[in-house]
Amino acid sequence: HSLKPLHTFALNNQCQHFVEITSVEQLKAHRFSAPFCLLGEGSNTIFLENYTGTVIKMATKGITITERENDVLVSAAAGENWHNLVSYLLDKNIAGLENLALIPGTVGASPVQNIGAYGVELAQFVESIEYIDIATKNKVTLTNAQCEFAYRDSIFKHTLKNKAVITQVNLALPKKWQPVLSYGPLKVLQNPTPKKVYEQVIAIRNAKLPNPYTLANAGSFFKNPIISNARLQALLLRFADVPHYPYGESHHKVAAGWLIDQAGLKGYAVAGIEVHKQQALVLVNHGNSKGSDLITMITHIQNTVFARYGITLEHEVRLINTHSECHIITEHA
Ligand code: EPU
Repeated sequence: HSLKPLHTFALNNQCQHFVEITSVEQLKAHRFSAPFCLLGEGSNTIFLENYTGTVIKMATKGITITERENDVLVSAAAGENWHNLVSYLLDKNIAGLENLALIPGTVGASPVQNIGAYGVELAQFVESIEYIDIATKNKVTLTNAQCEFAYRDSIFKHTLKNKAVITQVNLALPKKWQPVLSYGPLKVLQNPTPKKVYEQVIAIRNAKLPNPYTLANAGSFFKNPIISNARLQALLLRFADVPHYPYGESHHKVAAGWLIDQAGLKGYAVAGIEVHKQQALVLVNHGNSKGSDLITMITHIQNTVFARYGITLEHEVRLINTHSECHIITEHA
């Protein structure tokens, strides 16, 4: 089965078996055999090689809305498209998710990496997450705290990796709307409304981020590194302009896109893979590229950034080899 249409980076690889899940009953009846890989729309996963196991695509649908005293409870099935959910709610005058408009991928994938953009993270709205335990086939509900959300992180990347299939995301959206306009280009909005924020976010994303369905890519490729305040001070002495944001009391996040850009890598290419010219944190695939080309690219970026700033970049995108997830980590002396 071709993996090319199943992941937005669109490398031309195959998998042994493919299953599309359209109901929770079907999921419970599925006999899981290793190796398997759970997938939504494949916008944050790259298959580097032919995959020897089963790719399981979650395609369940359904959205229910329950009005409560102070908020609206939105329950959405894993296979719903994230952006469609944001738009559908806004059409019904249910606001809160507008900063997260146009993020590619499914609802079921959204808590795994705690999607975030323009000052808002999914975790702010999660009431609970429901999943099927692969070993017992029981339904389990996790509270927000139990999900262990952090920057691009959750329990689903750690303790529950390959053990849980997210089936439903329950979000609590306060009726009292609080716009988040902290991100530079949103500050300019006059008399903001949810719709205006939504449209501005879409305009910003369209200007910087390539549409994965017209130019293959997997969004931000690396995480913004988190460094101690002391290391930030040292970095600022040499690079006074590096964009940085507080992360807790003792750390700062620095903009990986800036580090890559200022290292002169915009437009750098390996085969058909290129560092995007509008946003250096995004790698695009013009076609005719192999997983090995991507590994060459990742290694080159990590080495160049480390040599210049002493910072190690971690890829945010999930990379899958012949049988499992893998991490490309360039060792530095
Ligand atoms: N910058 C450059 N050159 C570049 C790219 C960025 O100088 O080529 C600078 C920008 O000018 C800005 C700073 O770096 O001062 C940060 O850039 P940007 O605002 O574009 O955001 P980002 O940190 O690169 C993160 C998320 C995005 C999210 C945006 C907006 C991560 C890994 N990425 O990107 O999420 O849309 O903020 O909030 O946290 C994704 O995860 O796939 C994703 C697209």
